[in-house]
Amino acid sequence: MTIESVAALLRDAKRVLVFTGAGVSAESGVPTFRSDANALWREVDIRNFAYPDGYRRNQPDAWRWYGQRAAKVREVMPNAAHEAIAEIERRVPEFLLVTQNIDNLHQRAGSKKVLELHGNLREARCFDCDARSPWVADPVCEACGGLLRPDVVMFEEELPLGAMEEAREAAESCDLLLSVGTSNLVWPATEVPRYALRSGADVVIINPDMSAQPTGLRVTYLKGAAGAILPELVRIAYANL
Ligand code: OAD
Repeated sequence: MTIESVAALLRDAKRVLVFTGAGVSAESGVPTFRSDANALWREVDIRNFAYPDGYRRNQPDAWRWYGQRAAKVREVMPNAAHEAIAEIERRVPEFLLVTQNIDNLHQRAGSKKVLELHGNLREARCFDCDARSPWVADPVCEACGGLLRPDVVMFEEELPLGAMEEAREAAESCDLLLSVGTSNLVWPATEVPRYALRSGADVVIINPDMSAQPTGLRVTYLKGAAGAILPELVRIAYANL
């Protein structure tokens, strides 16, 4: 399928789900987790930063590392891919953005209906009492003295309450799912495009690397960078409208 045929699907779709991963923010200068030379899980040992036990053991380094990432994502700007996704939301009758990203760039680009599966770096919270906290110098909860952590989902932890159920419902009722910039390796998020496929939706994968992506008769691959493909898709879909 060509970008023109995908644009026609998008123009006709009544219910669209956009599903994103770190690749959508790569062109804003946010490193991905696995796909670049400076990918985060190559830079640091995942066990000492992204598992609750390792995070507790690796203090204060792990706290500082997340604090630096939180500062970095505030400094960078949304890119053309984030903006195109916000534009799709304004055009489509029923829309949901399901993101694995924790960088807040979708919201800053104007996306409104955003379901965050893995939390967000906007704030920290306490391991013990769950109180939210700003990014202070030391990881000590003001309310109870417990250990602070980023408000993101670590490995072995549950996703936010109801998040997968909402994503599933939207995936099972959409006409078209666009999966953008995710390696599609982390469960349970990997289920989202599968739910859509099983319910008969069209699924379009936008990524420079198609390994580990869903396959099937209704899957289309648009190979390349999100910041190039998505604005082009939106331009073609909504030309003359
Ligand atoms: P990954 O780092 O695993 O994958 C990034 C994907 O983006 C890869 O498939 C790249 O090919 C693709 N990519 C790179 N540059 C791109 C570009 N300019 N345009 C489009 N695609 C591009 O990131 P995620 O799939 O988001 O979890 O990883 C999933 C989860 O693993 C994350 O949410 C995080 C991580 O551990 C938690 O923090 C819980």
